[in-house]
Amino acid sequence: MPLPRAFKKGLQAAIERRRQEGYVFSLATPVDPSKTIDFGTNDTLSLVSSGALRAEFLAELERNPDFSIGACGSRVLEDSEYNIELERFLCRTHGAEDGLFFGSGYDANVAIFGTIPQPGDAIVYDELVHASIWDGMKASRASITKPFAHNDPRSLGQVLEHLQEQSPEIRSGDHTVFVSVESVYSMDGDICPAHEIVAVTKKALPHGNFILIMDEAHSNGLVGPNGAGLVSEWGLEKEFGIRLHTCGKALGTTGAIVLCDPLVKKMLVNYARMFIFTKAPSFLMLAVVKASYNALASEDGARRRRILQENIRFFFGLLEQHPLWQKVQQQGHLRISCGENWTNTPWLSPIVPFVTKSGKSAELGNKMRENGILSHPVGYPIVPKDGERIRVVIHTDNSREQIVSLVETAMEWASKQLEQKPTEISSVRSNL
Ligand SMILES: Cc1ncc(COP(=O)(O)O)c(C=O)c1O
Repeated sequence: MPLPRAFKKGLQAAIERRRQEGYVFSLATPVDPSKTIDFGTNDTLSLVSSGALRAEFLAELERNPDFSIGACGSRVLEDSEYNIELERFLCRTHGAEDGLFFGSGYDANVAIFGTIPQPGDAIVYDELVHASIWDGMKASRASITKPFAHNDPRSLGQVLEHLQEQSPEIRSGDHTVFVSVESVYSMDGDICPAHEIVAVTKKALPHGNFILIMDEAHSNGLVGPNGAGLVSEWGLEKEFGIRLHTCGKALGTTGAIVLCDPLVKKMLVNYARMFIFTKAPSFLMLAVVKASYNALASEDGARRRRILQENIRFFFGLLEQHPLWQKVQQQGHLRISCGENWTNTPWLSPIVPFVTKSGKSAELGNKMRENGILSHPVGYPIVPKDGERIRVVIHTDNSREQIVSLVETAMEWASKQLEQKPTEISSVRSNL
């Protein structure tokens, strides 16, 4: 049946608005992995592409030969031992008291921010937090939501000070402030200054009326004991009252665990509608999550984390040694939004976006595609108008040759922006 005329016109106008704003989404064309070099997906440890996760999954099935294909109903009506045991295992892995598993990180963030802060409470968030946190805040009953400047503890301190002037109940400790940060920011690849965030918050709120929330989407699996994440690596488990670990990035699967106090869990079970009014995750989904954690805890998992770090350092080394790198940065043609002090940073994020001048990222994206490189252009409103970029993600199984090809492609394009012949491009290879 054709769509009613007026309705169709309205939808077309809405899509047209998106087009004029410069971002119309369409479903991506599937890529042939044999013909592309993966610098785009979040399969950073190459657990999926290498088949390592598949092998662990088949082993997990063998350990549970009587598994049921079907899922339970809502977990408030029926539950499975496997799901309960998986949650216990994830809490042990991440050093948390309790936890609740959600079907996705998106749902989990909307649940946390939409149900935990109460009227009179405030949410103070890094200005670059993920869309799912924004959506959670939109649904929240918190009375105040306030951003602080990205990765800037001083700005956080100022916002917290201002909040106390605004709200006597926060000043007296009778209402709570939720401080929301991410361990690694998904579009910039930079790392949260967590120790300073903790110190500033404690100092600003001496009654202890705060809960720090850490989203570990982009560090889960990549760092810390058995890949438990940055909070575990830093030993800050007791400081972050709520932690979100998604399974959809380095773990190569889906779902997410919210690590929290048992009372917070009870609150989520009672109020998070995306938890209550939906089916439980199926055994198959949970078994892939378990398999992925098994892979992370294996010797191969440790090797994958180590090689990933070596590859990232190799990438930064190549760029830095390139004779034109300083110049293209100075002239603003190309820069990396993270890794300024990479030689002295103990752990580096695999997200290394190439930021271009406005209106230029599509050109670089085309060049990448022509050279068989999978990477993702990202523009406004996902990043600021003057921050368009090609989001590059380094992987464990990227070969040195592939990383050379990535740097060559970017620098070849950037050298052309300088209106110089790319004479010194070959020096990238001589550094191999
Ligand atoms: C920081 C952050 N949090 C949460 C999510 C949502 O996770 P999921 O993909 O599991 O829904 C993402 C996904 O991009 C993310 O980058």
